[in-house]
Amino acid sequence: MASASGLEGVVVAETRISDVDGARGRLVIRGYDIEELTGKCTFEDVCWLVWNGVLPKPEQRDELRAALGHARVKSFALLSDLGRALYASDGMDALRASTAHLIATGDSQRDRVQITAAVAVFAAAWARIQAGGAPIAPEDSLGHAADYLRMASGGSTDPSAIRAVDAYLSCVIDHGMNASTFAARVVASTASDMVSAIVAAIGALKGPLHGGAPGPVLDMFDAIGGADRARVWLEGELAAGRRIMGMGHRVYRVRDPRAAALEQAAAALEQKGVTAERLKLARAIEREAEKLLAERHPERALRANVEFYTAVLLEAAGIPRTLFSPTFGAGRAPGWCAHFEEQRATGRLIRPASTYVGAMPAA
Ligand code: COA
Repeated sequence: MASASGLEGVVVAETRISDVDGARGRLVIRGYDIEELTGKCTFEDVCWLVWNGVLPKPEQRDELRAALGHARVKSFALLSDLGRALYASDGMDALRASTAHLIATGDSQRDRVQITAAVAVFAAAWARIQAGGAPIAPEDSLGHAADYLRMASGGSTDPSAIRAVDAYLSCVIDHGMNASTFAARVVASTASDMVSAIVAAIGALKGPLHGGAPGPVLDMFDAIGGADRARVWLEGELAAGRRIMGMGHRVYRVRDPRAAALEQAAAALEQKGVTAERLKLARAIEREAEKLLAERHPERALRANVEFYTAVLLEAAGIPRTLFSPTFGAGRAPGWCAHFEEQRATGRLIRPASTYVGAMPAA
């Protein structure tokens, strides 16, 4: 049997949650283009949509907002039970270890609202501990994005930063059969529990080929420093055999639509004067990277992906760069939970085959 390297193009599930059209650069979440949701709906709206298939009525949004607030408070109360889990030097390691603790808290802790809340609270608590401070307690009356920003940034309540974080979390909520979602679905297919699936997904998201890129994207902006140095720096990276972070995608053959949505959300912050220079630099680097990659790979379009403008947006909003990947996890958690439920409903074990190329016993 021929093997499909990286499972590229292999269809492993039917899903009603999201559709990624790589040729057209279109991302549809439960019947809505991502541009209709990003910056126009709250994170609570998009959670409700992903979980229930329709946008919420105002009273349903309020209900979910209150439930998430309550669940954040409950998650914060768990911090003292986490031991050393939140002291790992890497945010994704801390998030994986702390989320795993939810399993010890009983069935009521294994629901999607609780998991979504806990991932955000644990990520933010890790950032505060890393900064040498104490975790900031949630405020259950706030929207999820506003409270996440407050807890993660050390207290920011800037309305434009809240809007940017809300747009970001909503924009990354789901994205077809990406690696972390697939990992979650594999675990779900074994009839394991939701926490185990989310822990597996966090492990997959950590890698720089998936969700680990936005911090390195910001490092790249710093290393380049000015638009006039972009080409030489990028050439040096490619000559050294390194990849340009935030560029390229397994599915998109055009620019990732989330890059445009997040660039726009970052530009809304720019009008407040927060990040004009950074955005200008990012755009210049993107142009140079695109040109260089097109020269090297005329057969394959390597354009900006979601991580490129995530870096600009989250930095401008006041999220520390070491927290970028955990913040991605906080946004993606509801999508993972939705896929867990969808996969479990099929009742079918995911168990692909492999081609054995090793030695055979002597005859
Ligand atoms: N910079 C430089 N070269 C890149 C590249 C990048 N960002 N992305 C892909 N390429 C090159 C590969 O080296 C490969 O070249 P080769 O055929 O000469 O070996 C070719 O393009 C095809 O790449 P491939 O590894 O088959 O693509 P993929 O679909 O497996 O990879 C990514 C998709 C996202 C993993 C890849 O584009 C990447 O590593 N990007 C940088 C990390 C990143 O931004 N991750 C976040 C993703 S949302």
